[in-house]
Amino acid sequence: MYVDGTVGGGGHAEEICKRLQGPGRLLCLDADEEALSSARMRLAPHVERTVFVRTNFRLLRSVVTGAGWTRIHGVLLDLGVSSHQLDAPERGFTFRNDERLDMRMDRRQEVSAWEIVNTLDEQPLAKLLWEYGEERMSRRIARRIVEQRPVETTGALRNVVASVVKGPHLTKSLARIFQALRIAVNGELESLAAALKDATDLLVPGGRIVVISYHSLEDRIVKEFFRSESTVHVRRDIPLLPGQEPIPRLRVLTRKPVIPSPEETVHNPRARSAKMRAAERRDVGSQRT
Ligand SMILES: C[S@@+](CC[C@H](N)C(=O)[O-])C[C@H]1O[C@@H](n2cnc3c(N)ncnc32)[C@H](O)[C@@H]1O
Repeated sequence: MYVDGTVGGGGHAEEICKRLQGPGRLLCLDADEEALSSARMRLAPHVERTVFVRTNFRLLRSVVTGAGWTRIHGVLLDLGVSSHQLDAPERGFTFRNDERLDMRMDRRQEVSAWEIVNTLDEQPLAKLLWEYGEERMSRRIARRIVEQRPVETTGALRNVVASVVKGPHLTKSLARIFQALRIAVNGELESLAAALKDATDLLVPGGRIVVISYHSLEDRIVKEFFRSESTVHVRRDIPLLPGQEPIPRLRVLTRKPVIPSPEETVHNPRARSAKMRAAERRDVGSQRT
């Protein structure tokens, strides 16, 4: 029983399906309807092994139990947006096109990047750009956005940022601003934290969580979660009976994140920032579930 929480175009899922045996099944999740349709097509040869659910992976626990499963053997989260989402017109994820500010992975959701850019007060907007984009010029950019409202399109937002950040730093600032808005629109960091917890609760002993992240905020959440769940937290003021020592729930399999080789980055430049971390659920008996 495996879960691909970010099935996207189905590339990873296809490789997982090829390796499933006997009663093996893969639950394929994505918040994006277009991603699910293309994954369904790609995985058609594995129709008997796959179940597709359009959902945010933050609901992992209820989706798994809704599928009638109680425990799972592995979870993959390949975070962020797909190349398809970046390249598709009208999704508003990239400053390289000029289209309506959108950035919703799930288009049923009401709040898009347009609402954030055009309705948030200056201070919370600056905070969001700083916290989710780590953009040093966040205050000045937020002030300029508020002055220039309405900012209707990705191109208009690019021009606002360009009026504050000059020269060679512009592209990096644009990437940070667009990242910050995307994280906020989709609640990406909260979803990741929730899914890591649910995945750890649901995994059988020996089951694995694998996460591929693309920026430092995500990677930090994964690293700290794995560290916390693989460390014993002992209260020094409470004596422990022999055999009652707490056992951490996870064993980290990647001391350092796995990153793409230079050759891989040449073939697939969008993989250049990828970091993969993996952990395995330990057998903690009845002490903690
Ligand atoms: C990098 S792509 C995954 C590509 C996929 N591994 C493949 O092999 O084609 C990320 C996908 O995850 C989806 N996604 C991102 N965050 C999500 C979330 N919180 N819940 C559900 N889907 C999410 C996006 O819609 C996108 O399709």
